[in-house]
Amino acid sequence: MEKLNGKKINTAVFISGRGSNLRSLIEHYKKKNSLLSIKLIVSNNRKAKGLIYAKRSKIIKYVTNFKNKNVSEKKLLKKLFNHKINLICLAGFMKILSENFIKKFKKPILNIHPSLLPKYKGLNTHKKVIKNKEKFSGSTVHLVSTKLDSGKIILQKKIKISKYENEKTLEKKILKIEHELYPKAIKKFLINL
Ligand code: GAR
Repeated sequence: MEKLNGKKINTAVFISGRGSNLRSLIEHYKKKNSLLSIKLIVSNNRKAKGLIYAKRSKIIKYVTNFKNKNVSEKKLLKKLFNHKINLICLAGFMKILSENFIKKFKKPILNIHPSLLPKYKGLNTHKKVIKNKEKFSGSTVHLVSTKLDSGKIILQKKIKISKYENEKTLEKKILKIEHELYPKAIKKFLINL
């Protein structure tokens, strides 16, 4: 990706559900002197609650259902190129992008994952963390590579798990830190380009 030269980076945020991280990114980047401009919101799920933020912020949304991954990804790549997207931020996007998509997009793709990677890759992280009686958990922002939840780590934030923690309380705690962690990690990533 080209170095920053005062220009905002055209960004697409991908979601599948609630979209609280999307909401926080929109809030963060609506300031005039911010690094990014969120131009596109993509979802594989037309019922994703988070799509409401596209409407509220007048950001273009694009839904493709991934039933045929190959077809969806092809259409999506076209859309991303048409909108001159230079960065993708996955924010609760629950589909795995193919190697072909990652290679063809050619630009950085970031993801936020609710665990201290490399621990607890994949799904149901909070459930597994509680079951294993971990003392700490957290969230990680990393570059997306062709291996699931395995790309270079940009930033992590750790939290302590209390004796009384359950899946729900842990999810809530982690979401709260994610809303600050993602913009921080994006900044770190961009200034180190
Ligand atoms: C977030 O906790 C995010 O880290 C996680 O889904 C949640 C989405 O919440 N992502 C993954 O599990 C990706 N493997 P949100 O829709 O409210 O932003």
